[in-house]
Order: sequence, then C-alpha cells, then structure tokens
Amino acid sequence: MVEVLYTDRLRLRDWSATDAQAALKIYGHDDVSRWLHTVERIPDEATMHRVLQRWDAERSDMTPGTGRWAVTLRDSGTLVGGISLLPMPVPEADVEIGYQLAREYWGRGYITEAAWALARWAFQHSLVELFALVDPENSRAAATARRIGMEWVGESGKYHGTHLQVFRLRPDDLTRACQK
Ligand SMILES: CC(C)(COP(=O)(O)OP(=O)(O)OC[C@H]1O[C@@H](n2cnc3c(N)ncnc32)[C@H](O)[C@@H]1OP(=O)(O)O)[C@@H](O)C(=O)NCCC(=O)NCCS
Repeated sequence: MVEVLYTDRLRLRDWSATDAQAALKIYGHDDVSRWLHTVERIPDEATMHRVLQRWDAERSDMTPGTGRWAVTLRDSGTLVGGISLLPMPVPEADVEIGYQLAREYWGRGYITEAAWALARWAFQHSLVELFALVDPENSRAAATARRIGMEWVGESGKYHGTHLQVFRLRPDDLTRACQK
C-alpha cells in the first residue's frame, strides 16, 4: 500500500481495479497519452483494468520512496489524475516523478498541488533528488515542473526517438518554490 497523502483539495491514494472507468478518461485520452513514455495508450476499459491489476501486482516489489498514486478530489472522491515516483530507465537509482491529469481538469493547479506534496513526502523518505523527463514540445508539463521549483539540467539521450528535457528537484528548490 502507498501512504495516503492529503493536500488542501486532494487525496492521493492507491489505485484500485475499480478505478478502470475513470482511469480510462485519463490514460485513454490522446491529449494525455501522446506525452507519456511510462504508460502506454489504453484503448478500452478492459485493458485499463488489466493495467491497474499489473500496477497492483508490482506494488509489493517497489523500493521505498517510490509508487503510483491516484489523484482524487478530497471533497467528492472524484478521480482526476495519476502521479508516480518510479525508478528511471537509466540510471535506475534515480527516481522520476510522472504526472497525468484528465483533460477536463487541466488549468486548476491540481497537479502542481499533488506534485508538491509528493515531492515533500519523497524528501521526507530519504530521497535526495527527483527528476522529470519532459518531451521538448510538452510545455504544460515543463511549466508544472518549474512551478514546483524544478530546474532544467539538460537533455536525455535519445529515448523513443526524442531527446527529453531533464528537470531536477532537490529539497531546497521545493522550499524556494513554496516561498515565492
Ligand atoms: C502535465 C499536466 C498534468 C499539466 O496540467 P495542468 O493543469 O496544466 O497542471 P498544473 O496543476 O500545474 O496547473 C497549472 C495551471 O492551472 C492554473 N492554476 C489555477 N489554480 C492554480 C493553483 N492554485 N496553483 C497553480 N496553478 C493554478 C495555472 O494558471 C495553470 O494554468 P495555465 O497553464 O492555463 O496558466 C497535463 O497537461 C497533462 O496531464 N498532460 C498530459 C500528460 C503529461 O504530459 N504528463 C507529463 C509527462 S512528463
């Protein structure tokens, strides 16, 4: 089980197989899936269900300080997005923060709020830095990274045909972003 995290507006919790219908609105939408390199585009609810079952099975093998959280509205319980801390493909010791939001919830600051809380949690659980890998044309994802204090530190090697922009966050960066 991942630790449940609360922010003013959100509750970050474990995924459940019963989330398939709502999760499909996130991972089955082209505006979201086109940017993802850690989750494939999900064509239908049955596939989404299987992916959620796979995430559930993988949970017990995850190293401390990593995991996948469903982002829900605290008031209504509505599932609006997903956020994760996962080992990077290379080098594996580094941890990547990934975030996705259903299209209808963009523009409300939800992922900034979730990412900030999750990063603080990660640093409290002994991670010393986090990375985000962002497609060069994905300006919204880069803006979110910058909003929580992430710094651009370079480009990845070619990954699925593209050089991804690498952003890094350290505890002091998060504190500085919070004081702005
Ligand atoms: C990346 C993604 C999660 C960003 O969504 P988002 O809603 O723009 O993210 P944020 O939570 O940072 O919200 C910022 C927006 O909310 C607005 N906002 C409203 N209230 C806010 C608040 N309290 N705090 C911060 N921003 C707020 C901001 O002005 C900004 O809107 P703007 O860009 O129109 O100016 C979303 O575009 C997405 O799911 N993309 C597809 C998947 C993806 O690219 N993932 C990242 C792969 S690396």
